[in-house]
Amino acid sequence: MTVTIVGSQLGDEGKGGVVDLYGDAADVVARYQGGDNAGHTVVYDDETYKLSLVPSGAVRGKIGVLGNGCVVNPETLFDELDQLRERGLEPDVRVGERAHVILPYHRVLDGIEEDEKADLAAGTTKRGIGPTYEDKMGRRGIRIGDLLEPAVLRERLEYVVPQKRALAESVFGVTLEGDAERAFDVDHLFETYRDYGERLADEGMTVDCGTFLQERIDDGENVLLEGAQGTSIDIDHGIYPYVTSSNPTAGAAAVGTGLGPTVVGQGEVIGIVKAYLSRVGTGPLPTELGGVEGQTPEYDGHSGDDAEEELATYIRDEGGEYGTVTGRPRRVGWLDIPMLRHAARASGFTGLAVNHIDVLAGLEEVKVGHSYEFDGEEIFTVPPTTEKWGRCEATYRTFDGWPDVDWDAVADEGYEAIPENARTYLEYLADELDAPLYAIGVGPSREATVVLESPYDG
Ligand code: GDP
Ligand code: IMO
Ligand code: MG
Repeated sequence: MTVTIVGSQLGDEGKGGVVDLYGDAADVVARYQGGDNAGHTVVYDDETYKLSLVPSGAVRGKIGVLGNGCVVNPETLFDELDQLRERGLEPDVRVGERAHVILPYHRVLDGIEEDEKADLAAGTTKRGIGPTYEDKMGRRGIRIGDLLEPAVLRERLEYVVPQKRALAESVFGVTLEGDAERAFDVDHLFETYRDYGERLADEGMTVDCGTFLQERIDDGENVLLEGAQGTSIDIDHGIYPYVTSSNPTAGAAAVGTGLGPTVVGQGEVIGIVKAYLSRVGTGPLPTELGGVEGQTPEYDGHSGDDAEEELATYIRDEGGEYGTVTGRPRRVGWLDIPMLRHAARASGFTGLAVNHIDVLAGLEEVKVGHSYEFDGEEIFTVPPTTEKWGRCEATYRTFDGWPDVDWDAVADEGYEAIPENARTYLEYLADELDAPLYAIGVGPSREATVVLESPYDG
């Protein structure tokens, strides 16, 4: 059977940890969308692994697959595999031949377009994700399978690269120099990417993803489908245009692997919820606390409410909500229930994993945005346009806070050991989303999890 893991908010909900938890009973862990814009954390034996492309199951010896719906930067892939090997692991990762390749010009163009977009910029990771999906849809992309056939690779590059160069130089007026120049050099690209193709072939890494996974399922094996990003940055269901360029929602788990929707639908779809909100990027966030300059719309350094700013800093510090590379503060806020109702519907959650309840411990009260006031009406889900979402004001419900406790002991003892007020909060959430609680994260490691349901056990 399959279990699909979906981010229900804005990314970084702790999906990597839940994949690690439930991946234990899986044989294969496959990603179905996104690329090295992701950052999934697995904490194992006091070691922390941050994976941007390799599926999280690879840390514990599962076969990892990058599905056809992914965009793959071979440079990142091999770097990450080499790093895992240096740390004593033996990752076994396969790549779907239909997956699209991120080329250096995609990264350069991602940077150029972000600068050009100014207020419309999503604040992308500049990994070339959007430009690669654009080329996929524009039918001028290069796929993993093409790297294995030099004549095809050469033909595709000769068609597409001059267009990309013209876009950079003539449309955006950029002077290409050094590495940026080489990113648009057909001969250089051909040689480099043909070599990546040879390495993929030599290491037996390429697969026909759908067939590979279906055969495993037919043999009775368990497959875990690892979503990246989150519902509110989904290209269709998120805060467009401040979104990523793929579908993190569960429908893509079928399209992005080649398994049928009926196969994915017979399994479980688990929504991963962070107990508060964190966001890297711009766009409306009705339950935001305080703000971050350059990301929170119309925020100029202070919300005018000292207590709220203090609370935001507290949650940010407790949750470590600072960019791993840049150190920049992330936006934070109270849980947004309309956002979660929207996510639960879009992916059809059969269960919930709620992380980070330990981060909120010690607060006197914990709030949630229960509904929105929108143009004088109370609404319970997210409106379809970002401009309408920006006009929504959250209507709050307040819960009594819970104390900081020995969370490792709580994880050992089980659900009843979670402080009562936290359980009230969790049960409210399960009621509102009409989905049962499967796991509660009380710390970063797999052991710091209260497990209520193990989906593969039936
Ligand atoms: P992902 O992108 O959804 O996989 O999440 P990230 O790995 O980017 O961010 C989640 C962060 O929170 C990581 O540093 C995790 O180790 C950590 N984390 C996950 N679950 C919990 C939890 O329940 N409590 C705490 N305190 N940290 C957690
Ligand atoms: P994981 O899998 C949080 C955000 C970026 C930006 C927008 C578009 O770790 O949860 P992109 O480079 O994808 O074109 O950027 O999406 N973003 C994420 N935010 N977690 C992620 O992944 C993200 N991947 C992309 O910050 O706003
Ligand atoms: Mg992340």
